[in-house]
Amino acid sequence: MKRRPIIAANWKMHKVTAEAKSFMAELLPKISDLRNVDVLICPPFPLISTVDHAREGTNILLGAQNMHFEEKGAFTGEVAPAMLKDLNCEFVILGHSERRWVFGECDTFINKKVLSAFEHDLIPVLCVGERLEDREKNQTDQIILNQLENGLKGVSEQLLGNIVIAYEPVWAIGTGKNATAKDAKDAIALIREFIHSRFGTATAEKVRILYGGSVKPENIKTYMEQDGIDGALVGGASLEADSFAKLTIF
Ligand code: PGA
Repeated sequence: MKRRPIIAANWKMHKVTAEAKSFMAELLPKISDLRNVDVLICPPFPLISTVDHAREGTNILLGAQNMHFEEKGAFTGEVAPAMLKDLNCEFVILGHSERRWVFGECDTFINKKVLSAFEHDLIPVLCVGERLEDREKNQTDQIILNQLENGLKGVSEQLLGNIVIAYEPVWAIGTGKNATAKDAKDAIALIREFIHSRFGTATAEKVRILYGGSVKPENIKTYMEQDGIDGALVGGASLEADSFAKLTIF
């Protein structure tokens, strides 16, 4: 089955309003002819409205980089799913390695977020991936499978078909050391096989699985050529409109 590719920008903690506006103004004409690729932009919370405004009349998709699973309450500094819906977000990145390893989020916590995102009609972009020490101990597959098993607990087969999963080896993020196309392909095949075994063939065929970690205009093609890789989640190379636009042509 042919899945629609998705190229996602994760701006992380970058840009202020003026920069987001000029990024969008520069990006739009560059991607106006794009027909067969979904473009998703995930700005930091304060810039979501700016990007939403700028994307009016385009097919650009909008996502947040994180959220809390609770509806509301005394959770200083957190953002609720309904707040993201209110800002017109369609997607939310969950379980990014920076959330896991810098902010201490565990699989149980991430699972609650995944369930809450679905409940609020937000599509999770669930990130999984091993650290360098896991890879060196030959534990890559086990780590990915555990993150999937625990992160997707309680998700129905019907909802799961809409999820986006990003395989992001931690050692490849922001380091310039991208995984080989074969490593990415193998990990993504493992993820699809897991979905197949737990959620059935139709769901496994539907779920889009991305690679992330030092993706750039110079290497996007090698990933997109691999069977089973449905797109990319991009940090550094998504910050300049020109480089991000180039990632949509592969
Ligand atoms: P990078 O980040 O492209 O800068 O490696 C990817 C990510 O963290 O999603």
